[in-house]
Amino acid sequence: MYTKKVMDHFQNPRNMGEIEGASGVGTVGNAKCGDIMRIYLDIEDEIIKDVKFKTFGCGAAVATSSMATELVKGKTVKEAMEVTNKAVMEALDGLPRAKVHCSLLAEEALQAALWDYAKKNGIVIEGLVEPKPFEEHEEEEEEF
Ligand code: FES
Repeated sequence: MYTKKVMDHFQNPRNMGEIEGASGVGTVGNAKCGDIMRIYLDIEDEIIKDVKFKTFGCGAAVATSSMATELVKGKTVKEAMEVTNKAVMEALDGLPRAKVHCSLLAEEALQAALWDYAKKNGIVIEGLVEPKPFEEHEEEEEEF
């Protein structure tokens, strides 16, 4: 049902954790299943130097966050905008149909983190739209 790459990223997720004082942080929730994902970006001179994620969700959500972080690491902000859920799924050699919505979390969390970075720095990133507010964004401190 899952490809080898999905299983690999699920069992050995890359870039899991958080970045203190990150340039941008994005948290999103999947309304369908209640799963939550947060992505931290460390950006210097428009280059994503480091990226970490935390996911409270299913195996496909963990695998897609892991792959999304791998795809954006070392890239420019502009290149990171091309890391869509489709690109993440392709890099994982596909996801079962019922799990496609899980890959949207990674794209949305990444874009929310880029939005946060842009907002903090007063810049505009072409094609980036404001993410839906995540209610627990400010007050939520617990580990997930
Ligand atoms: Fe919720 Fe996969 S079932 S993200």
